Amino acid sequence: MRLAYSTKLGNSFIGNSEEILKEKQFENLAHKINLIFTSPPFPLNRKKSYGNLNGDCYIEWLSRFGPLFNELLAPDGSLVIELGNSWDPGKPTMSLTPIKALIELKRTGKFHLCQEFVWHNPTRLPSPAQWVNVQRIRVKDAFTRLWWLSTTPQPKADNRSVLREYSPSMKELLKTKKYNSGKRPSQHRIGPNSFLTNNNGAIPSNVLSIPNTSAFDPYLDFCRKQKIPRHPSRMPSDLAKFFILFLTEKNDIVLDPFAGSNVTGFVAETCDRRWISIEKEELYARSAISRFDRSSVTLKIEEENNG
Ligand SMILES: C[S@@+](CC[C@H](N)C(=O)[O-])C[C@H]1O[C@@H](n2cnc3c(N)ncnc32)[C@H](O)[C@@H]1O
Repeated sequence: MRLAYSTKLGNSFIGNSEEILKEKQFENLAHKINLIFTSPPFPLNRKKSYGNLNGDCYIEWLSRFGPLFNELLAPDGSLVIELGNSWDPGKPTMSLTPIKALIELKRTGKFHLCQEFVWHNPTRLPSPAQWVNVQRIRVKDAFTRLWWLSTTPQPKADNRSVLREYSPSMKELLKTKKYNSGKRPSQHRIGPNSFLTNNNGAIPSNVLSIPNTSAFDPYLDFCRKQKIPRHPSRMPSDLAKFFILFLTEKNDIVLDPFAGSNVTGFVAETCDRRWISIEKEELYARSAISRFDRSSVTLKIEEENNG
């Protein structure tokens, strides 16, 4: 097990997570991980530089992580896994591989499905290009799903940690205390006081609309200056932040076994959570150090022991 770097609250490891998670040092972490938040490679036809499996091989590969994740999770811990859509090779039809992979992962890990989330990325480029841009017979595929799984039907969660700012109309309603109560067309009955409590924000829905752009990112700056490739599938930090705040508390442990450029570890650190990241591509693992503020974080870059 090779350490890329450590910070005040976390450790980044280089290697294959399937092997690393079985190593002796990880035995101490059994049932101690509060959140596994991760975005594994998707079953894509156009492969990314880090490689992607497809079809039955993908399903079988992902399902092997079920028992490993189950063993690591705290009794009230959660697994949140992003699985993107996938298309049949050469056809304008969608593949069910991600859904089948989820079903297999749920089975092998003996998980409950707590809730499905959709991450809508309004800035996503049109794809699949052949069907959307060239033949114009499909529309932009602009979301991925995040599946929230757990070994218990009641994992730790608090939606009060992720409240959204009230809409202007709700703010107005709280001020004027005037609205029409009674039966709605949906047959819900709204009482005269239903909307008058100020809960300091609105409860979010399971559709998260978050653009994947950042005005200034020290990681991108670092990659540009060092002339090294940047990770091709970085997620926005607000996506990781939503689940870390929703499902964990200060000092809890967050694991990302497919860490890429370590957005998860970085966000965990800024939220005062401990973290562990594993990434098999050495360059991605090491360059993610640039996300962390060197003046406030103790960084120990392990010297390579290459003899
Ligand atoms: C979709 S990317 C994750 C991106 C990450 N969330 C970010 O924001 O930068 C998936 C990553 O998993 C890594 N990976 C694939 N198989 C792995 C394995 N068995 N062990 C560790 N990392 C793996 C790939 O190299 C890739 O960087």
